[in-house]
Amino acid sequence: MQQMIANVTLLAAGLSAALLTGCASTGGSSCCGSTSEGTIMKEPFGKTLDGQAVDIYTLRNTNGVEARIMTYGGTLVSLKVPDKSGNFGDVVLGCDSVPDYQKQTAYFGALIGRYGNRIAKGQFVLDGKTYHLDINNPPNSLHGGTNGYDKVIWAAKPVPTDSGPSLEMTYVSKDGEEGYPGTLKIKAVYKLTEDNSLRIEFTATTDKDTVVNLTGHTYWNLAGKGNILDHVVMINADKFTPVDETLIPTGVLQPVDGTPFDFRTPTAVGARIEQVNEQIKFGKGYDHNWVLNKETDKLDVAASLYDPTTGRMLQVLTTSPGVQFYSGNFLDGTVTGKGGWVYQFRNGLCFEPQHFPDSPNQPNFPSTELKPGEKHHNIIEYKFSVK
Ligand code: GLA
Repeated sequence: MQQMIANVTLLAAGLSAALLTGCASTGGSSCCGSTSEGTIMKEPFGKTLDGQAVDIYTLRNTNGVEARIMTYGGTLVSLKVPDKSGNFGDVVLGCDSVPDYQKQTAYFGALIGRYGNRIAKGQFVLDGKTYHLDINNPPNSLHGGTNGYDKVIWAAKPVPTDSGPSLEMTYVSKDGEEGYPGTLKIKAVYKLTEDNSLRIEFTATTDKDTVVNLTGHTYWNLAGKGNILDHVVMINADKFTPVDETLIPTGVLQPVDGTPFDFRTPTAVGARIEQVNEQIKFGKGYDHNWVLNKETDKLDVAASLYDPTTGRMLQVLTTSPGVQFYSGNFLDGTVTGKGGWVYQFRNGLCFEPQHFPDSPNQPNFPSTELKPGEKHHNIIEYKFSVK
């Protein structure tokens, strides 16, 4: 069933034909992994409930780090990285089959759009016209609506590069889809590099004025089990955007000083998560956007995550102005994930690098408008190490 698609380095060097044949005939990871900058393999990953075929691509670098990405939702299904003893383990939450992904509402590992996070009351005004979106998280619209980009099948093709296996995913979101104006052409390129980084680079163009906020929704658990309360978080932000009880920002940029939202010094997730605090109460824990201490459009560190038991360390870099840190507060034991793990309260956490929630209705937030002739651009990089 497996088909080795490309020995990435040599494909880039123009020597692909002979090697492709060689890889395809031997198949499996032993074929090319040890002699190149990495490999990509394509396999069927079953079908959606309505019978659409879904493929899964396995990207592997020469250190043995392996990322698996499926075409349904452009989803990062698994990511295996070493711990401090060199043992590889999967550090992302997800499901075993496509129908299981379709049944859950947690957005495990998916690409998110057209608009990451919430738009108040599912409406906004653009060029004097009011647009009405799908209210899938009453009273608001969340993550692009019921059929957001996490629920569609993306086209995928491996692309040649000399710095690691790379998978280009594309999706065309039609004018009016889930209520958003303009046909949006989106490209999301996943790349696994030799320094154990997985990068997602989004670009998008439109044929009418629209709003765009693309991100990734991977849940991390660097221990591969249990809850994430002992994971140590750093967020490179002096301010965050407090919310109302429906998780819509009030519009204020509030200093984190003296609050449980101050992660400038690395702190365990659980250290202050039960504090009596209105914002913690609204989020049922952390479910907020932080205003990053960095220039927008510059790729820089947004956050880091460290698990003392395994020594695994994740740095999240982005070009976006914000990051949503969500501590898995809606996980409640109703989803059985990969390998039979029943995901309980706070068994995983997300960092969603993005523009601020509800920006189309918030004049003092950085703009998320995209016009014809412009290019939306957002890079997310997950960089792994041990300490
Ligand atoms: C984001 C939101 C959360 C929740 C999750 C998905 O992080 O901010 O409130 O909807 O996605 O469960």
